[in-house]
Amino acid sequence: MCGIVGYIGREDAAPILLKGLKKLEYRGYDSAGIAILGAGGLTVRKSRGGIKNLEEKIEAELANGTLAASIGIGHTRWATHGEPSDINAHPHTDLSGNIAVVHNGIIENYARLKAWLQKHGVVFRSETDTEAVAHLIDLHYNGDLLQAVMESLIRLEGSYALAVVSRDDPDRIIAVRKESPLVIGKGDGENFIASDVPALLEYTRDVYYLLDREIAVLYRDKVEFYDGDGRRIEKNIAHVDWDAGAAEKDGYEHFMIKEINEQPKALTSALRARIQADAGQDAQGGVPVKAVNLEEIGFDSSWAQANRVVITACGTAWHAAVIGKYAFERYSRISADVDIASEYRYRNPICNPQDIFIIISQSGETADTLAAMRMAKESGSRVIAITNVVGSTLAREADLVMYTWAGPEIAVASTKAFTTQLMCLYLIALQFGVLRGVLSGDELAKSIKALEEVSGQAEKILKDKETIQRFAARHFTKSKVFFMGRLFDYAVSLESALKLKEISYTHSEAFAAGELKHGPIALVDESTLVVAICTQTVLFEKMDSNIKEVKARGASTLVITYDDVNYFDQSADEIFRIPRLPDGLSPMLSIIPCQLYAYYCAVQRGLDPDKPRNLAKSVTVE
Ligand code: G6P
Repeated sequence: MCGIVGYIGREDAAPILLKGLKKLEYRGYDSAGIAILGAGGLTVRKSRGGIKNLEEKIEAELANGTLAASIGIGHTRWATHGEPSDINAHPHTDLSGNIAVVHNGIIENYARLKAWLQKHGVVFRSETDTEAVAHLIDLHYNGDLLQAVMESLIRLEGSYALAVVSRDDPDRIIAVRKESPLVIGKGDGENFIASDVPALLEYTRDVYYLLDREIAVLYRDKVEFYDGDGRRIEKNIAHVDWDAGAAEKDGYEHFMIKEINEQPKALTSALRARIQADAGQDAQGGVPVKAVNLEEIGFDSSWAQANRVVITACGTAWHAAVIGKYAFERYSRISADVDIASEYRYRNPICNPQDIFIIISQSGETADTLAAMRMAKESGSRVIAITNVVGSTLAREADLVMYTWAGPEIAVASTKAFTTQLMCLYLIALQFGVLRGVLSGDELAKSIKALEEVSGQAEKILKDKETIQRFAARHFTKSKVFFMGRLFDYAVSLESALKLKEISYTHSEAFAAGELKHGPIALVDESTLVVAICTQTVLFEKMDSNIKEVKARGASTLVITYDDVNYFDQSADEIFRIPRLPDGLSPMLSIIPCQLYAYYCAVQRGLDPDKPRNLAKSVTVE
């Protein structure tokens, strides 16, 4: 977590750094700081709390020009080592205050380094691992900052994206990364660094993605690159097409509601160009047949030789993975396993080169997810990445990449990334089914038609958001909310419960409805809201019994089902209806009212859904 920024150019650095940090606040917001190199030398300002606190603290200095400088670095923190406080906030400096460092990641050998540095007379002021880096660079400093950074890196274990400036080397910023994201933005007479692209969009779309251990040295008019062995290298520029507005709230109160509303567009983008309209003619002749076309990502028939699909991810992406498992079983009749990446990496999994791994990550930078991907590759398996971030580590290291094309997702609670991950999974599962010869032409045609209609149907649900808003206004005080469903609906329940707990702090859980009698029902009473997701026709009867069981124990019930279903009219207190889809594809729609419910509950509770306590968008450390 944490976000870092850097600027070198001809403009006033501090306001640019603050703006950049605000764009990265989703990565952490428990303290923030900047270090600038101006006429007065190296000045560090930091503060506990969000960027706003920092801004207030330095308001007067910004106004009177004390902080004027054209080079600087900044940081927004999500605490790992040491509580959130002014002292633990970054940037950290060496003892003389010559060198300042910002860091995203974890220095795993920091305790050993600290002991060693203390033996050399260093007195630590903070509890952070990062402070050790500043002292280490100082110890290696012999008139050349780049050399000092290179020598220090040899001693660092763990993950880092670092930016370093020095009073004695005032015309450059040194940046380096290993297992934490870092992007270099190339401007005209100015250059930037940031943990993520949205912080750069206002200034440039030309970026360099650093690989692990690569070093960038930013000057005003150029950027030089070095590999991990200190050799000069050339890097290609990448162009980002996101428009700057995509990373703004665009009149919405929060990023989360903006992103919920962007789902129809995002679903269209995820699908676009992946359906071939004229793939032949039907048996009667004349009517053109559509097909899934994944040539764009390099998915050919060799992939269909697999014995098994293993899908691995964390958080919301893991919930998409659970749905993916059901989709692969249903549409491709292939054995599919699903794993939480942080679990997978520490067990002793049995895998072989015939397995195919699908690794899902919105950011493409989640540490556990990347570790699972690397294990899969080491075992000789091929890896398909589903990610939203072009140039992310996952995208670079996987064998095939399927982008979700959802546009930047800023809110911590993932929404449009989830539904577009589902779209990608369905497309792969359908194509697998075709290549394996197990999916009938009819079912393929029906499914493609449904995928093409999903975006419009999502729009319809969003038009009815006031219904959910009113529902939230009546129920936001409920102390327990349970989501239940079976199979696909169970997976949607998992995601719904996560959304609600992470942003509204309501105790919420998901149950496979058949498990109700094995424990969860003991928790059900008048203070409980049970949301039953019922979109699989063959399971309606079972779900209806479960709804009656919780109602009999005093729970209020909301059923989410299709607009042409009356099955639950007697048992449910309230029903929210979504447009009909073939049952297995319904998660792309049934999750939307649950996202809205979580959002409106948070708002009703006076919370900021974009900044849930203790959470960060990208978990780039273990
Ligand atoms: C964090 C975020 C979640 C996200 C998860 C996995 O916990 O708060 O929204 O689902 O990380 O992130 P990824 O970028 O790998 O999808």
